[in-house]
Amino acid sequence: MHVQFLGHSCISITAGSTRIIIDPYLTGNPLAAAKPDELEADYILLTHAHHDHISDAPALAVRTGATVVATFELAAYMEGKGARTHAMNLGGSYRFDFGTVQMVPAFHSSGIVLDGGKNIVYGGMPGGFVLTIEGKRIYHAGDTSLFSDMKLIAEKGPIDLAILPIGDNFTMGPDDAAIAAQWVRAKAVLPVHYNTFPVIKQDVGAFVKLLSDLGLHGFGLEPGQSIEL
Ligand code: NI
Ligand code: MN
Repeated sequence: MHVQFLGHSCISITAGSTRIIIDPYLTGNPLAAAKPDELEADYILLTHAHHDHISDAPALAVRTGATVVATFELAAYMEGKGARTHAMNLGGSYRFDFGTVQMVPAFHSSGIVLDGGKNIVYGGMPGGFVLTIEGKRIYHAGDTSLFSDMKLIAEKGPIDLAILPIGDNFTMGPDDAAIAAQWVRAKAVLPVHYNTFPVIKQDVGAFVKLLSDLGLHGFGLEPGQSIEL
């Protein structure tokens, strides 16, 4: 399975012939590693409704025919934009043709800001995803604070790859993300949601060193770089 970091929280996973894009935010992302028109997708997974996670989802879904997987309200919003959708909610799992997806909680917010802030639409609860594909478990935490129920994710076994935000300010910072990595028993960690904007600037090398001091493996990927799982 091929896991590519496309910048911010956007991840591309290719498993067999299935292409999964999580949180497409490429247009307007100064660190984006791809143009939205270059992407192909069978599934688009959205952790929550904030602009920096969904902005390219409607056009990508309509062009590719991909199924958008998101919480009930965000799926309804995407359906209104012409996307094919599969609605889920927190705690629920569903077996797709490529593997199993469980939506898990995240502590964050999830409104859709419209008309320059004049309207804010409820986008459902924010979440994360635990994907079980080819026998490997991948946790994309979405945007979240550290919260102790992350420990429950490891109740079913370790996580092979934990994709964790480290930018601080809007989400966990590096210190809390390192605790999260331990709590989910991550065999490897891919830090995301940093350096896109000045307010979330982080030293990813220092984070990887912090993980290493805890006996954990971290990837400091540049946008566009990939790993094989
Ligand atoms: Ni957010
Ligand atoms: Mn975000």
